[in-house]
Amino acid sequence: MSQTVIDQIQDLKRKRRAVILAHNYQIGEVQDIADFCGDSLQLSRQAAATDAKVIVFCGVAFMAETAAILSPDKTVLLPDKHAGCPMADMITAEQLAEKKRQHPDALVVAYVNSPAAVKALCDYCCTSGNAVELVESLPKDRPILFVPDRYLGQFVIDKTGRDMILWPGYCPTHVRMDPRQIQGLKEQYPDAEVLCHPECTEPVKALSHQILSTGGMLKWIPQSSARRFIVCTEEGILHTMRKKFPDRQFVTLPNPPICPNMKKITLEKVAWSLEDMQHVITVPENIRIPAKQALDRMLDIMPKGG
Ligand code: 13P
Ligand code: SF4
Repeated sequence: MSQTVIDQIQDLKRKRRAVILAHNYQIGEVQDIADFCGDSLQLSRQAAATDAKVIVFCGVAFMAETAAILSPDKTVLLPDKHAGCPMADMITAEQLAEKKRQHPDALVVAYVNSPAAVKALCDYCCTSGNAVELVESLPKDRPILFVPDRYLGQFVIDKTGRDMILWPGYCPTHVRMDPRQIQGLKEQYPDAEVLCHPECTEPVKALSHQILSTGGMLKWIPQSSARRFIVCTEEGILHTMRKKFPDRQFVTLPNPPICPNMKKITLEKVAWSLEDMQHVITVPENIRIPAKQALDRMLDIMPKGG
């Protein structure tokens, strides 16, 4: 990639006292210039802990919003304001308020892939890396309303045995994966271990050996005896996997799962974002404060886990 853009980003980063955080689904060259690359949970911890003045968030809007909720004294920039998450858009605060009226006793757990106003109405946030532990820690005598991902929710039900009320949201990128393609790859590579994300559908999970968050996959690979992995999540993570584990082989689906929103961030947009200090992501205080409580409860329950 053009060294000039990379040099420009490094200069601007120093000038702005900025840190660049990137999600594991970003394009390879964006991952490579990031100060930290990780899953949603790791990125929220980084955003909460950094002493930089500016956070450039290379991910989607709810991730940048989470950083803004946790670090109100920092400027959080999203290099493409249209990088949203369709799953997060499948629930609104008004809809959740109505559902809460129907289930007044329920504890509400919101996957971080949700709007800030939804987080503000929930008791706990979780990520795919800690949803099981978080739900296990909740009192057994309370019903649980889990929003917005029905597939992560079902995974948590299967793991914990808790009977939760699920919101019918889903990730279009993960739901599109065709189990027949995975079966075909398993036949082609019988030695391979199949890793899938909890956002995948039940038939995909049934074909998988491990169901893990993106950070969980990266932790699992060095512990596994397998040399080859069929990776059933957004294909951006194969870049990190190949870089971190050059002695292993990673295979994506013939029709690779791509999140178009994650791919909206480019090096040029990162440079422009730092130059013009755009797009600043802010969350109004009346939403930020209750949303931060729900995020803090998650981070307090699992200070190191996930
Ligand atoms: P992780 O928390 O596993 O990184 O997943 C985030 C996400 O958006 C998955 O689609
Ligand atoms: Fe949202 Fe799915 Fe993209 Fe993750 S992969 S950001 S859940 S649309």
